[in-house]
Amino acid sequence: MTEKNFYITTPIYYPSGKLHIGSAYTTIACDVLARYKRLMGYDVFYLTGLDEHGQKIQQKAEEAGVTPQKYVDGMAKEVKELWQLLDISYDKFIRTTDNYHEKVVADVFERLLAQDDIYLGEYSGWYSVSDEEFFTESQLAEVFRDEAGNVTGGIAPSGHEVEWVSEESYFLRLSKYQDRLVEFFKSHPDFITPDGRLNEMLRNFIEPGLEDLAVSRTTFTWGVPVPSNPKHVVYVWFDALLNYVTALGYDQDEHANFDKFWNGTVFHMVGKDILRFHSIYWPILLMMLDIKLPERLIGHGWFVMKDGKMSKSKGNVIYPEMLIERYGLDPLRYYLMRSLPVGSDGTFTPEDYVGRINYELANDLGNLLNRTVAMINKYFEGEVPVYVENVTDFDADLAAVVADSLAQYHKQMNAVDYPRALEAVWNIISRTNKYIDETAPWILAKDEVKRDDLAAVMAHLVASLRVVAHLIEPFMMETSRAVLTQLGLPEVASLENLNLADFPSNVTVVAKGTPIFPRLDMEEEIAYIKEQMEGNKPATQKEWKPEEVELKLNREAIKFDDFDKVEIRVAEVKEVSKVEGSDKLLQFRLDAGDGEDRQILSGIAKYYPNEQELVGKKVQIVANLKPRKMMGRISQGMILSAEYGNQLTLLTVDQNVPNGSLIG
Ligand code: ME8
Ligand code: MG
Repeated sequence: MTEKNFYITTPIYYPSGKLHIGSAYTTIACDVLARYKRLMGYDVFYLTGLDEHGQKIQQKAEEAGVTPQKYVDGMAKEVKELWQLLDISYDKFIRTTDNYHEKVVADVFERLLAQDDIYLGEYSGWYSVSDEEFFTESQLAEVFRDEAGNVTGGIAPSGHEVEWVSEESYFLRLSKYQDRLVEFFKSHPDFITPDGRLNEMLRNFIEPGLEDLAVSRTTFTWGVPVPSNPKHVVYVWFDALLNYVTALGYDQDEHANFDKFWNGTVFHMVGKDILRFHSIYWPILLMMLDIKLPERLIGHGWFVMKDGKMSKSKGNVIYPEMLIERYGLDPLRYYLMRSLPVGSDGTFTPEDYVGRINYELANDLGNLLNRTVAMINKYFEGEVPVYVENVTDFDADLAAVVADSLAQYHKQMNAVDYPRALEAVWNIISRTNKYIDETAPWILAKDEVKRDDLAAVMAHLVASLRVVAHLIEPFMMETSRAVLTQLGLPEVASLENLNLADFPSNVTVVAKGTPIFPRLDMEEEIAYIKEQMEGNKPATQKEWKPEEVELKLNREAIKFDDFDKVEIRVAEVKEVSKVEGSDKLLQFRLDAGDGEDRQILSGIAKYYPNEQELVGKKVQIVANLKPRKMMGRISQGMILSAEYGNQLTLLTVDQNVPNGSLIG
């Protein structure tokens, strides 16, 4: 194994709707690790992308009234824009509709069929389209029964409804690999983070006996067809999991990345909802293909809201765009990484969001920087004194805290425990703020004899902030740069061998520091975020009370008798022609059941450039309008039409309605 090659992946998300802070969380979490590893001297390949096949996407496209391809193309563009906004440093964005990927999926399927790891059978059971997951009755969270006690439906553990599926299906022979998987788990107890999840998988899914997995569907078409039996499309999860190797060039002409990165450390990060796919199906699929198994699998918890899971209908969905627009990118990246403890769920609250910006970013970090820059300008005309160890009584303690926190930071970064890693950084920040209070530079400044002490204090502050700016770089790139720029220090180039003592000489701070995080009005901002969340709620139907509805009319209301004077009838278009000398008028010959045809002129020529298409249509006319002349020709009535935007359509009725029928 090549120690310093590091491959990190996010799940490939379903583009079934706008991505919320949940997917943003995983993608930022992987980005932080990718950036950290790069700064630690690793050669990193960071993969993300979209899971574009399957029944759910086909349904979404149908709802949107576009082809699935068009639908996913639009979503892919949107998602890439979001990752750009979040400054995600991915090396590749895979889409499962990419040709190279589809080809390998089809090839692999046939190969496993040939080696008898896939076989044809019959599947009957419950399917959740939202999760794209099969369930046995006992796995369902809720089961619906009719009066006779027969099961008629149910709810998946995710809360989504399941439907009964019964169809011919190919199966993946998981059962054959069960022992090897158990062996792998036992010999790699650290495979899954956090601890405990591995045993949970063993206990809940493996020990009761692995059932073979249905890996094809026949009731829709949006997927990779099975080459030898194309009425089947490959199950979306079989297709999706393979992205982790196809993206690197597996089974393709150009496979240098696969050789390089799959032989390095392979690190998958996913939410706990899809841990089963990644800890059971994926390793077995790799065994079948004779590919080395991944080194690490992180199954993080969920961001939830005070009132439970994020859902649009509850009006508690929060999208990253709005938070970035109002507060900038770094607070979002910081908040998400700081607030979700490894292994458990975290609650997003507007109070917390604004609170962390104010207390941790603006106060703790922002003020430390401001005070430091201001004092160096005041006492040393902006020139940072040379760092000398152990001048004041407080130096050794500060240095020890920094050294401890550094070690802690690296340990927690490798454990992907970002809250603790950031806590270690904030430990340095608080210790440094306390150091200012202890050393009281404003008092030292009054005493010329204490000039060296004052110099040491200033140097320690800059040295400490330099370490902090380095450590936050994977999380908050812009802030890191801003801190270093204000201190007159170069950008972060590496995190290897970082220590307090090590900083360049002849450093000059900026003449006037600017706050890196503005202080927020808590109440106002909490209200703002809440309002935005409410705004994401789809318009709900309030109870309909017709008597309270105020009609919006363009003209004054008329009595029924007035309306009754109008005679509207069905008429069939017998002939239609353009009127010479007018680009507006069309001339119609219509049968309105009068015994004799009538002529109507209508100013709709520009809406019907191919006016002949109207011949044979049954339209609605006002039959008792006083005849009038237009362009010297008689018009005996008016054809009704609907206007919308800059379009117009004649009102037609069914072909089987006889000419002359009264409309009223
Ligand atoms: O499952 N908190 O895609 P998906 C934290 N296509 N993370 C969250 C979250 C939340 N509230 N909501 C979503 C799929 N996530 C498959 C994956 S991989 C081969 C195929 C994150 O769009 C979390 O990482 O449903 C979760 O696992 C993922 O989004 C699910 O994304
Ligand atoms: Mg999901």
